[in-house]
Amino acid sequence: MIEKPILRALAGQGQDTPPIWLMRQAGRHLSEYRKVRAEAGGFLNLVCDSQRAAEVTLQPVRRYGMDGSILFSDILVIPWALGQDLWFETGEGPKLGPLPTDLKLDMDVLNPIFETLRLLSSALEETSVTQLGFVGAPWTVATYMVEGGKPKFQASKDFLETSEAEPLFRTLINATISYAKAQVAAGAEVIKIFDSWAGRLKGDDLKRWSLDPMIEIGAALAPTPVIYFPRNCEQALPYLRENLAGPFGFALGETASLEKARALAGPDICLQGNLSPVALLGPVNEQETQVAQILDQVRGTPHIFNLGHGVDKTTDPARVQALVDQVRAR
Ligand code: CP3
Repeated sequence: MIEKPILRALAGQGQDTPPIWLMRQAGRHLSEYRKVRAEAGGFLNLVCDSQRAAEVTLQPVRRYGMDGSILFSDILVIPWALGQDLWFETGEGPKLGPLPTDLKLDMDVLNPIFETLRLLSSALEETSVTQLGFVGAPWTVATYMVEGGKPKFQASKDFLETSEAEPLFRTLINATISYAKAQVAAGAEVIKIFDSWAGRLKGDDLKRWSLDPMIEIGAALAPTPVIYFPRNCEQALPYLRENLAGPFGFALGETASLEKARALAGPDICLQGNLSPVALLGPVNEQETQVAQILDQVRGTPHIFNLGHGVDKTTDPARVQALVDQVRAR
């Protein structure tokens, strides 16, 4: 049995050198990704082409020697499997058709994704690379479902006041649990729950529509380790600690203070983050300074090095390599 640094960190073990992977490590900043995406003919085709999806998942793992491999897919495949039309327009991001009144999960349309995970598990067998699966949290997924694309949030918040909100969230929670469990059965060793728009909710609304659904999903996946990412809601850490039984991972957006987050998390919760993706676009010496600062702060604590948000598509791969080299040089 090979010891995997990401799994050790998630179990609460501090390490001198934190393991590293990056959100959007596969994607448009890599020429080898752009080539395969063009061959596949669009983003959703690529997600559903298991061979090619496994290939683009592995590209950054091979190129940079990452400790984690994140499944190439999207959080919006759940609305799609529930019967809502989904397409990706170049330069515009995701678009969704009208919200159907009768949403029913068709897990069969997600079979190519499980096949991708099986291909990845065999490719990564006998390595120390951790295979991460992921899902979107109901709130973030619902904002796209309600608004049909990039959310502006007013319509989503108004929707929460209607009698349709509770049933939609129930459907999303149940579908997401089934989907995440099937990812684990196909080889995902960790599930990350993305709630990119959690920061748009406050107080009781944050608990009811973001944190409680995430907690219900995460708890249903035990003993699989879960990384929660209510982006820009670091103040939620104590609430998650109170409501989750075992150790867990918590990802920080780039606005979070690592020091404050560690104080809220206590010694055993694994934090992940939180270099700004912008650091990879500016002067290289500033990148080095920021990375060194994070490394000093996290040394000996359970931590997974990552960005606070995804790799920007204009990032020079040499800058990602420099980041990985610096983390490993400790
Ligand atoms: O981290 C990874 O590389 C894993 C794969 C992954 C993608 N999307 C691939 C993707 C993950 C984990 C996601 C999550 C996701 N998708 C979120 C939550 C995280 C975040 O970014 O806030 C959200 C909100 C989405 C919805 C979504 N999908 C958007 C807003 C976009 C357009 C973004 C863009 O850069 O154009 C997508 C498309 C998408 N998902 C791309 C990728 C690599 C770009 C695809 C392409 O054009 O080639």
